[in-house]
Amino acid sequence: PSDPEPRHFLEIDDVSHEELLEVLDLADDLKHAQQTGEPHEALDGQTLGMIFQKPSTRTRVSFETGMTQLGGHAIFLGADDIQLGRGEPLKDTSRTLSRYVDVVMARLFKHDNVEVLAANSSVPIVNGLTDDAHPCQTLADLLTIREQEGGFDDVSVAWIGDGNNVGQSFVIGAAMTDMDLTVATPEGYGIDDSVIDRAQELGGDPTVTNDPVEAATDADIIYTDVWISMGQEDERDVRMEAFEGFQVCSDLLEHAPGASVMHCLPAHRGEEITDEVIESDRSIVFDQAENRLHAQKALLQWLLD
Ligand code: CP
Ligand code: NVA
Repeated sequence: PSDPEPRHFLEIDDVSHEELLEVLDLADDLKHAQQTGEPHEALDGQTLGMIFQKPSTRTRVSFETGMTQLGGHAIFLGADDIQLGRGEPLKDTSRTLSRYVDVVMARLFKHDNVEVLAANSSVPIVNGLTDDAHPCQTLADLLTIREQEGGFDDVSVAWIGDGNNVGQSFVIGAAMTDMDLTVATPEGYGIDDSVIDRAQELGGDPTVTNDPVEAATDADIIYTDVWISMGQEDERDVRMEAFEGFQVCSDLLEHAPGASVMHCLPAHRGEEITDEVIESDRSIVFDQAENRLHAQKALLQWLLD
């Protein structure tokens, strides 16, 4: 199977504002179909290849289950189980996979490498997380916020903690949906300037601060992620010190009495978020996790239809 010019999804702004809303609307429809037991097998006979250089629970299981529900099939390709792990170049891996499967999802370390996959693929490449971006997570986040708040207008969101891959894609997604975003990170751990520039070019105006209370105050949504991402384990001690004061805890939530709390998971309770908060009725983290399934099914169907 080959499309001469496949559409890739490496970053959330690889789709336009209108296309993003199309995918979210399709996700709503597919969620309804799944919940009511209505067949929705638009990808009958199609195959997704899934390359993983890092561990995963949600991404792996939601993509694989999603393909099954859409009538297709998914193949798990641990990077060390395929020849990539023995040094086969990514470009050869990509050209080969393109001859077999209809779409590839990849979770890699370096963002440049997902671009190498895309440049050498005749089928769509979907970014399942790199060190710089996690656009599939953002799709699910936007679906969750729209469900929770009834839309994006006048929604105020605080990103608190590390300016990491999940945060960077979310900053772009918030700009595309015109939400009011404040990002609070410790100095030296901010969202990359190029990402803030992109958000501004897309019409966003994120407020950037080092004060978690300023960000949290009167927010509708408070969103955090781990302080130590996959691949940063050696930085544990220095990061733990840098992020002191940035924990999403009940004291912080007092500044946002109406806020729902989001986390992409996996969470490290006692670090970026307390057990009390994640278990409280403010937490919508498992709705958010579920929405990975619906959002990605929509993305796959949209890319392949
Ligand atoms: N949020 C997320 O991507 O989780 P996994 O690492 O479990 O896939
Ligand atoms: N920022 C985290 C997200 C995991 C889904 C990481 O990269 O490890």
